[in-house]
Amino acid sequence: MSFETIAWKDDKVVMLNQLVLPHEVRYETYEDFRDVAAAIKNMVIRGAPAIGIAAAMGIALGAKDLKNDGFESFRKGIDEICEVMSHTRPTAVNLFWAIERMKRFIDTRKDQDVPTLQQLLIEEAQKVLTEDIENNRRLGEFGAQFVKDGDTILTHCNAGALATGGYGTATSVIRVAHEQGKSVRVLCDETRPYLQGARLTAWELHQDNIPAEVITDNMAGHFIKSGEVDLCVVGTDRTAANGDVANKIGTYMVALAAHANDVPFYVAAPTSSIDMSLSTGTQIPIEERSAKEVTHIKDHQLTPDGVPARHVAFDVTPARYVTALITENGVASPPYVFTLPTVMPKI
Ligand code: MRU
Repeated sequence: MSFETIAWKDDKVVMLNQLVLPHEVRYETYEDFRDVAAAIKNMVIRGAPAIGIAAAMGIALGAKDLKNDGFESFRKGIDEICEVMSHTRPTAVNLFWAIERMKRFIDTRKDQDVPTLQQLLIEEAQKVLTEDIENNRRLGEFGAQFVKDGDTILTHCNAGALATGGYGTATSVIRVAHEQGKSVRVLCDETRPYLQGARLTAWELHQDNIPAEVITDNMAGHFIKSGEVDLCVVGTDRTAANGDVANKIGTYMVALAAHANDVPFYVAAPTSSIDMSLSTGTQIPIEERSAKEVTHIKDHQLTPDGVPARHVAFDVTPARYVTALITENGVASPPYVFTLPTVMPKI
């Protein structure tokens, strides 16, 4: 990979700034956990698994600055840091998964002194990153079986290396198929309003010489119906226990078009993106962002003064439109209430 999405370097968190891509490759360095939280909120880093990694590193960063006043006081400080992290973005469950993982890690080491815990949290945050990369690679290997030589694959948003620690989720399926020598072509939905497909997916596929073309979101139905698309692969920010999939706004329309035209619609996700505590997708909190992200592109206003706009950032695709869920522990097929528990890790 020619870039790193996020890394822990010299006791600081370093992130590739996704706000300035594809025109500038700029890394930002963070020394304060509050700035890491702001970077998640402002989308310097985005994508469900990457948000989880950033939160884990932010907690380790904050923990490093807590006073050596005994376990109870340290634990209270961790809760305060986690509270700040938890208010950054509501939909990606990986954020809450990472927060719980870091808390659980401390709670099972109450006998350790504070400096040891501070060091162990740094190592645990780095483990969240390395495990994510390994899991993505594994799910890509499971998913590549669905890609044939010569296929055209449609993807929505950015479920790539930039959205994860590396490889990506949907993009890992594409990358592994490409590495296996299959000729693939990718149609990247531009993904209004934040343009993750046009700016980020197109950029990272191009870096790896994987043929990619950008289409506007409203062209997806046309390409699917015309027979040009062999399969769709997307990621997810949170999938419920019944297989309902929350992903970037517009995913539902892609799934509907795929279903209507008998084109397979796959969702690739590490199990850290699956929320078994929610029985259906209706319980998934959906982020609503500033309307300015719809009315404007950068500082250029597109819409008339005085007309309000809405920016719903995610939608939920019902499980019945999902052909299979590809995870690092194998592929789950419908009915997901029975198959998802078999791929979930036993804690
Ligand atoms: O708002 P974003 O850019 O954080 O949304 C990202 C997505 O919707 C991705 O498709 C999802 O996180 C899957 S990423 C592996």
